[in-house]
Amino acid sequence: MTEALPTDAENHHAIRTESHYRLMRLDDVKSVFEIDKQVYPFPWTEGIFEDCIKTGHLCVVNEIDSQIVAYGIIGMIVDEAHILNLSVSRPFQGKGYGRELLIYLLALMKRGNAVRALLEVRESNQTAISLYHSLGFEKIGTRKGYYPAEDGREDATVLAKSIA
Ligand SMILES: CC(C)(COP(=O)(O)OP(=O)(O)OC[C@H]1O[C@@H](n2cnc3c(N)ncnc32)[C@H](O)[C@@H]1OP(=O)(O)O)[C@@H](O)C(=O)NCCC(=O)NCCS
Repeated sequence: MTEALPTDAENHHAIRTESHYRLMRLDDVKSVFEIDKQVYPFPWTEGIFEDCIKTGHLCVVNEIDSQIVAYGIIGMIVDEAHILNLSVSRPFQGKGYGRELLIYLLALMKRGNAVRALLEVRESNQTAISLYHSLGFEKIGTRKGYYPAEDGREDATVLAKSIA
């Protein structure tokens, strides 16, 4: 998972010509954190993003004209790829960037010899759940009270997809 990212031309999925995927750097963290605050009621901290980069998670951003519009973070545990974060900045949501990023990340996982992709998602997050279902993720369980919520805790749906 540490090898160079494939170029757009190498990737057989439809990567939009105007957007550009690259590894997240420490100097991206401020922008990424600003997006995280926009899109989540309980965002990560800048420190969590920095730790993800420093610990060697696969951290990818998609940018248009040097502006980050989406990012994804994957942690590998042996041959399982755990999608820890997948986000599109609010003005770019609903335009296909989330699907494109997920397809891109799945291609990277396959190149990294992962056999399964795994993630947690809030049970109320129907937008994300329908995206994951449309790309073949299936529910494998529930984690009770996994997320903080305004009125207590919210369960996570655990989804997985075989990518062997
Ligand atoms: C979830 C998220 C990544 C999806 O990315 P996106 O760029 O907005 O979504 P896309 O335009 O690529 O659409 C992909 C699919 O998502 C679903 N979707 C997108 N917008 C939707 C909406 N308003 N309502 C319901 N489903 C929607 C659809 O299944 C859509 O597929 P379709 O276009 O074939 O109908 C993005 O909305 C986001 O960052 N949300 C906030 C952070 C988050 O919840 N991340 C996931 C955490 S597990």
